[in-house]
Amino acid sequence: MIGIIGGSGLSSVEEIEVLNKKTINTPYGKPSAELIVGVVDKKKIIFLPRHGGMHTIAPHLINYRANIWALQEMGVDKIVAVTAVGGISAELGPGVIAIPHQVIDYTSGRENSFYDGVLNELKHIDFTEPYSELVRNQLFRAAKQCKVPVVERGVYAATQGPRLETASEITRLESDGATLVGMTGMPEAALARELNLKYATISVVANWAAGKGNSKKGIEVGSIDRVLTLAMKKVREILIKFLSEDLL
Ligand code: HPA
Repeated sequence: MIGIIGGSGLSSVEEIEVLNKKTINTPYGKPSAELIVGVVDKKKIIFLPRHGGMHTIAPHLINYRANIWALQEMGVDKIVAVTAVGGISAELGPGVIAIPHQVIDYTSGRENSFYDGVLNELKHIDFTEPYSELVRNQLFRAAKQCKVPVVERGVYAATQGPRLETASEITRLESDGATLVGMTGMPEAALARELNLKYATISVVANWAAGKGNSKKGIEVGSIDRVLTLAMKKVREILIKFLSEDLL
């Protein structure tokens, strides 16, 4: 079964016919919200808004472990996570949709593993390729079918937030090889891998990263929501196509 994690600008998907909502408790605490069990084109899916139903949970306070655990407990084996990001490289301006292939983790102090004694075991996961190629390819194909252009690569820099970055921090991320920057991509991707779930992310560029494009003198925070609302329409199209076909 497919699980969708909604990010900023995507706290619900109207096209999902809601069957019921499940409150789940995990060994790691409560997920961000009730899990929405729904149907798209006769296929059962699970939707979870990462920042909570009212979009009140900040990126550094999200219980990533409970979210991933709860999805697995509901029978999810494939996750598409939607993330809002700032664009660093020239082709990633506001409104562009990218499907990253790599991640660099700059977060700190987050609970970033299930192996903390509760599970009574320890595994070192391979994370050379952090995202599922299968899910990424399915997303490319879904995007093509609905004629929504997507950038098929990206190096996601996961920052701690909740503040945005300084211009020098972005220069550093860029020289590290990052092409986009967001606050929620990690530890989510690594936790999914620890539980052997196939995971990929659709990143929506909300703004030029600090010091780039029209953010040279500062990021116009007020325009972020506007850009996201528009771009999420296209993300919804991709998701619905992806869900209805679950293309192999
Ligand atoms: N930086 C980090 N996270 C973000 C940004 C950004 O510029 N825009 C949206 N999420």
